[in-house]
Amino acid sequence: MTASSTASAPVPPTATPGGAPAGVTHPKTIKSFVRRAGRTTTGQAKAFEDFGPRYVLPYTPTQLDAAAAFGRAAPLVLEIGFGMGEATAHIARVRPDDNFLCCEVHEPGVGALLKRIGEQGLTNIRILQHDAVEVIDHMLPPDSLDGVHIFFPDPWHKKKHNKRRLIQPPLVAKLAARLKPGGYLHCATDWQPYAEQMLQVLSAEPSLQNTVSGFAPQPDYRPLTKFENRGLRLGHGVWDIVFLRRH
Ligand SMILES: C[S@@+](CC[C@H](N)C(=O)[O-])C[C@H]1O[C@@H](n2cnc3c(N)ncnc32)[C@H](O)[C@@H]1O
Repeated sequence: MTASSTASAPVPPTATPGGAPAGVTHPKTIKSFVRRAGRTTTGQAKAFEDFGPRYVLPYTPTQLDAAAAFGRAAPLVLEIGFGMGEATAHIARVRPDDNFLCCEVHEPGVGALLKRIGEQGLTNIRILQHDAVEVIDHMLPPDSLDGVHIFFPDPWHKKKHNKRRLIQPPLVAKLAARLKPGGYLHCATDWQPYAEQMLQVLSAEPSLQNTVSGFAPQPDYRPLTKFENRGLRLGHGVWDIVFLRRH
């Protein structure tokens, strides 16, 4: 999330055009992720070499030409935070007619998805190894998305970290604006307080409408991942939430 701190704080007359006080190079932003240490395996490194040039898009703060990036025009789904890409690859396989633009900042995760792309011969995924919030802000125009997937976003359990959660009104408003009328926003989480926050925030966004009353049944394209199966065996719940952009 970008910081809201600059929105209401009075800007001193000596501030730079970017809003930072004089002498401070950048206003602080609150990110929804921390850069985790993690080893990229040899297999993932090889996948970067073999498939990176075709499937990883460079981040540039200019509008994305999706048809050019995918080599075809097709419905476009944005995924935020695909982790190791298990669900992403499955969904791309069962929905070959859709294009999936997938953001993840964790390098081993990007390597893992590239490896799956190679193994499964997937052609309808493009990866941006970059903060999805900046991708949304700078690369995606209004009415450009047919769907958005946000599966098991970091729950940021501690109260003092809740502000890092992705699903908050400003980001949801931006996503809603980039969805085409009739496009969908699908979130899933296994952390009940976050599920309730998601439901509340999405319900409060005037341009979105719930597909059901309350939580949704699990859509059939979303697979149960290994992590989720383990949680379910331990008796944990999982909540899906699916809203549509109003016409
Ligand atoms: C808890 S993991 C869930 C991964 C996956 N969706 C799953 O279901 O297994 C959340 C992931 O979101 C990524 N993430 C969080 N904020 C992000 C952002 N702003 N842009 C891109 N990736 C982000 C993190 O790096 C992390 O890998």
